[in-house]
Amino acid sequence: LRIGILISGGGSNMAALVKAAGEADFPAEVAVVVSNRAGAGGLAKAEAAGIATAVIDHKAFPDREAFDAAIDETLAAHGVEFVCLAGFMRLLTEGFVTRWHNRMINIHPALLPLFKGLNTHQRALDAGVKFHGATVHFVRFGMDEGPIIAQGAVPVLASDDAATLAARVLGAEHRIYPLALRLVASGRARVEGEKVVCEDMGE
Ligand code: GRF
Repeated sequence: LRIGILISGGGSNMAALVKAAGEADFPAEVAVVVSNRAGAGGLAKAEAAGIATAVIDHKAFPDREAFDAAIDETLAAHGVEFVCLAGFMRLLTEGFVTRWHNRMINIHPALLPLFKGLNTHQRALDAGVKFHGATVHFVRFGMDEGPIIAQGAVPVLASDDAATLAARVLGAEHRIYPLALRLVASGRARVEGEKVVCEDMGE
């Protein structure tokens, strides 16, 4: 399965997916990494891993539809069949989300449906939750909505601030994103009635 990864920043989740996809038995390959920001640190990581990259600057387009169409053009040029959003900080149009229905997943640094949106770690601390974490889900038009594939929970420590909690959550992200992609790419996880059903993982 040919994967396109969309990033905006450091790309540590992209790097985790690229590493996992390099394993012999992984049911997917990364065809291209696309960033909406030319300065994204993830671009250098992708190039170092020998992955094709592209920059599509959202500021160069008159509207979201034109930007999304340019992304689609690059994805098509690389034969992409499935999209992974990894630290991608743009809301996609309904048309794009529809075109990639059940073929696009995202990672969110919270245990959805809790803490959709931004600043999830400070909000978790402010809410006094004892567990926080990350969620991989199929993308739907509503921000951070969609059928959940995998989650990873981490404890919130009394000593935590947003930075220490974010770092612990990022570690969980790097574990669950490759797992989630493996489950979906192998066909073991699929959407039924807006829920993800997972065949026995045999573990
Ligand atoms: C991180 O905050 C992560 O939790 C979220 O996007 C941000 C950047 O991640 N998914 P990455 O290092 O660019 O993958």
